Amino acid sequence: MARQPALGQHAMVVAQEPLAADVGLAVLKAGGNAVDAAVAVGFALAVTYPFAGNLGGGGFMLVRSADGRTTFIDFREKAPLSASRNMYLDTGGKLTKDSIVGWRACGVPGSVRGFGLAHQKYGHKPWAELIDPAIQLAAAGYPVTYQFSQSLIAGTNSNKLLSQFPESKRIFLSSHYGDTLTQPELAATLTRIRDKGPGDFYEGEIAHKLAAAMEANGGLITLDDLKQYQAVERTPLRGHYRDYEVITSPPPSSGGIGILQMLGMLDGSGYEKAGAGSAASIHYVAEAMRRFYADRSEYFGDPDFVKVPGTKLLDPRYISSRRASIDVQHVTPSQQIRPGNLGPYESTETTHFNIVDSEGNAVAVTYTLNGGYGNGVTVPGLGFLLNNEMDDFAAKPGEENMFHLIQGEANAIQPGKRPLSSMTPTILTHDGKVFMVLGAPGGSRIINGVLQVILNVVDFHMNVQDAVDWPRFHHQWMPDQLYLEKGISPDTVAILRGMGHKIAPYENTNPVVARVEAIVNDNGWLQGGADGRGNAKAEGY
Ligand code: GLY
Repeated sequence: MARQPALGQHAMVVAQEPLAADVGLAVLKAGGNAVDAAVAVGFALAVTYPFAGNLGGGGFMLVRSADGRTTFIDFREKAPLSASRNMYLDTGGKLTKDSIVGWRACGVPGSVRGFGLAHQKYGHKPWAELIDPAIQLAAAGYPVTYQFSQSLIAGTNSNKLLSQFPESKRIFLSSHYGDTLTQPELAATLTRIRDKGPGDFYEGEIAHKLAAAMEANGGLITLDDLKQYQAVERTPLRGHYRDYEVITSPPPSSGGIGILQMLGMLDGSGYEKAGAGSAASIHYVAEAMRRFYADRSEYFGDPDFVKVPGTKLLDPRYISSRRASIDVQHVTPSQQIRPGNLGPYESTETTHFNIVDSEGNAVAVTYTLNGGYGNGVTVPGLGFLLNNEMDDFAAKPGEENMFHLIQGEANAIQPGKRPLSSMTPTILTHDGKVFMVLGAPGGSRIINGVLQVILNVVDFHMNVQDAVDWPRFHHQWMPDQLYLEKGISPDTVAILRGMGHKIAPYENTNPVVARVEAIVNDNGWLQGGADGRGNAKAEGY
C-alpha cells in the first residue's frame, strides 16, 4: 500500500479512464460545476471506455449540492413495451442466453436522457461545451492503451462477444495496442446529440435509425419505446453510520438499502476491534453481507411496479434481529438463512466516476452497459454499443443470472419496468459538509465493494488510496461461497475455513471485488483514490 491519493484544494475528479478524467478536470477548471463535469465525463467515457461507458446503456447519478440539497437521477434502462415475463425461456422452460447476447438483450437506453435532465436542471455550462471533448476524442481518435487492448485480445470473452457482430468486430477488434482508434460514426451521433439535444436520441434521426436496426435484427425496441423513455428524479436514501450521514441510492438500486442495512448490522457490534484484514472482521462483515443478499433475493424491484419494503428492511429492530443471528465464531450456512420475515408490508462491468467542484457540490455517477461491451452489438451507422441490461431482471425467478444472483418475483420482467440494480453511488457527509464520494462497477459485488471502502476509511482510518486498494472480499448469500481477493494472507484464509467459510477457488472466479473510486475531503484537502485494480485516474487542482 504505497500509493498516495491525488490531492486538490479546489476540485477533484476520479474516473476509470484517464482521458475522460482529463475532460472532467478541464470542465471544472473552466468554471463548470460538478454536474457539468459529470455530463462531460459521461459522454467522454462513451468514447474512451466502450467496455462500460455508453450512450446505449443507463445508470444513476447522485448529486449533493453545497447547500445540502440532494437528488438521485435514475436513468436506468427499461424493458421494452413488448417484453414479457418468460421471453428468455425456451419451449422447455429453460433459460436461454438471449438476455445476455445480441439485440434482444437490450433494455431501452437511458444515459442520454439522464445526462440531458442533469444538465437542464443542475448544469451551468452550455450543453455543446460538454459534448465537444467527446466528439473530438471520437473523431480524432486516441491511442489504444495496454488495458484496452488486453480486454479485447483473442480468447477473451469480450473478443468472443464482439466477434459475433460485424460492426463491433470492424470497429473494436481491428485496433491493437498503440494504434489510434477513431470512431467517426460515434462522432456523428454525438454531434447530432450536441446540435439537436438529447431528444434526437429518443425521437429524432438517431431514434429512427436505432428502431429500424432493431426491427431488422429481431430486437424489441421500437420508436414508441424510445419516445416514452424518461429519466426520473428520486429521493436519495439517508441513514447514519457513526458520525456520518450516508446519502445513497434508492430502488431500483438495491445498493443503498444494502449499504444502510449492513452498516446497521456492523454498528455497535465491535467487529472493527479485530482490525482490518483480520479473520474475525472479515467473518463478521461477510455474515452481514450474507443476510442482506438473502433479503435482496426476495424483496427488491422497480419501485414504480412493486412495493419495496424499504422502511421495514431498514427498521433498527429488524436490523438488530439480523445482527443477533450472527455467530462471531462460525458461519451460518446460507441454506439456514432465508430472506428476513418483515411482517406485513407497510404500505462484469459497469463504470463509476466522482466529482467534487470548488463550490463543494458533489456528484457520483455509476452507469453501465451491464456486461463488458454490453450485448456485443454496435448499432450500424451510429457507432455505439447496446446494453444487455435485460439480464438484470429475474428472467426466471429463483434461478441465477449472469452474476449468479438469485432474484425474486419482485424483479420479474414486465413491459416498461426497470431491472433491479446493484449500482450504489453514495455520499457521506460530516458536520453538514461532503466527507466522502464513492461508487463502483462490479455487478453484484458493487455493494460490498462500496461498503468495504467506507469501513476502511471510517473504521480503519485508512487514507482513501489505501482504502480503495486494500484487498476485498465478497459474499452474496447464494452461492454460499466467500470470494477473496489476492492479498488476504493464507493464515487468515485458514482461520476463515475453520469457521466454516467455503472459500471460492481463485482459478474459477474473477477475484476482483469491484473497482471502487472514491474522494475524501480531509479538512479542506480533497483526496482522490483511483482503484489500482484498473486504469483509473484521480486528479485535482
Ligand atoms: N448491471 C449491473 C447492475 O446494475 O447491478
